[in-house]
Amino acid sequence: MNEEIEPILIGEVDDIEVGSVENFEYEDINYSIFRLDSGFFATQGNCPCAERTLLSEADVEGEEVECPSCGNTFSIVSGDPISDLELDTLKIYDVTEEDGNLYLNL
Ligand code: FES
Repeated sequence: MNEEIEPILIGEVDDIEVGSVENFEYEDINYSIFRLDSGFFATQGNCPCAERTLLSEADVEGEEVECPSCGNTFSIVSGDPISDLELDTLKIYDVTEEDGNLYLNL
């Protein structure tokens, strides 16, 4: 069954600098919105380990995000863990741009 997906307005494209990440909270759930050279990406907002660290406090290195608590790295594009393959993959969400606005498609 296909349900119609309603895009959620995140904000304006210019709200996020290239090479950075911002947290976006929607219905009490955090999402990390990344702006890379190659475009916008979204992952779950908290790291997948028990610490639940906010990834928006992390450093962005190219297409990788480095957990600010432990230093583990993940691919922002695929969500795959890079430094510790035992960690769970980050959930990935679709971000679209329209008329200067950014939308999260859950
Ligand atoms: S503290 Fe959770 S991955 Fe680093």
